[in-house]
Amino acid sequence: MKINKTSVLGAGQMGIGIAQVFASNNFKTIIYDNNEKNLKKSEQNLNKQLDKLIEKEKITQSDKDNIFKNLSFSNKLEDSKDSELIIEAIIENFEIKTSVFKELEKICSKETIIASNTSSISITQMASALEHPERMIGMHFMNPVPVMKLIEVIRGMQTSDSTYQSTVDVCEKIDKTAVTAKADYPGFIVNRILVPMINEAFYALMEGLAEPEQIDTAMKLGTNQPMGPLELADFVGLDTLLSICEILHKDLGDPKYRPCPLLRKYVEAGWYGRKTSRGVYKY
Ligand code: CAA
Repeated sequence: MKINKTSVLGAGQMGIGIAQVFASNNFKTIIYDNNEKNLKKSEQNLNKQLDKLIEKEKITQSDKDNIFKNLSFSNKLEDSKDSELIIEAIIENFEIKTSVFKELEKICSKETIIASNTSSISITQMASALEHPERMIGMHFMNPVPVMKLIEVIRGMQTSDSTYQSTVDVCEKIDKTAVTAKADYPGFIVNRILVPMINEAFYALMEGLAEPEQIDTAMKLGTNQPMGPLELADFVGLDTLLSICEILHKDLGDPKYRPCPLLRKYVEAGWYGRKTSRGVYKY
């Protein structure tokens, strides 16, 4: 299927990044959020972000104008009825996600692809809630979306070959590299490997193996990662990481995935990382 029009549901950091990437690659893109305030704030943030990129001479004023020409902001789900691809990036909650998908099925054609940017909820289980489960797929973008080249494409048990092929084709059109997870086991590929590494860094910190800066420097210089695991934890959000750890632990049933008690303490303290100005580090 040829995809020209897309919708992104959820005007959070991920949603707006995904919308920016589609709009800058000339897709007509709707960014939907049921909260008018979120929409306004995300529009202002995108505006600022793009101005910074103009200042740094990464993009031109006409690139920015083109992005805003292709983007529209909406708080009505019905506006997405003609989109051929709808990417959901709303709250990580199975009930809320599937209730939105059910609404979409009432207004969209049965060919519309519904992709989820979930980092850990089963695509197969969400697809089961749909009337046309073959249209459901996972498209897991990495943060920050405009910069990171990868999209994990995750097939559910019911995903059709045509849904899969159209999704992989669209990844190429937005200049990203698709890597396919053939099954939607918890954490898919990236989080299955990344999150236990970050969790282990919290154990190292808890056991007093080294100071946070030392752990990060060791991993940055020793394994050529752009950010150390604790710095990356603050960047992703400690609350998000804890919830992924819990899903890996519960759904894979292996004690090796148990969340580090220190990670849990930070989350209990409300120290989620950069977004709350305090995580492992202070901002
Ligand atoms: N649109 C377009 N370009 C943007 C941008 C935007 N919104 N924001 C930043 N950029 C560009 C900048 O212009 C800059 O370009 P150059 O390198 O060509 O100058 C580049 O992106 C890097 O930005 P900065 O200079 O501000 O910062 P940096 O060089 O320190 O890099 C970083 C920042 C890209 C975040 C880097 O530190 C990094 O790669 N960190 C690791 C990120 C990572 O691992 N992400 C995955 C997290 S896991 C996940 O997302 C999955 C999950 O489910 C938890």
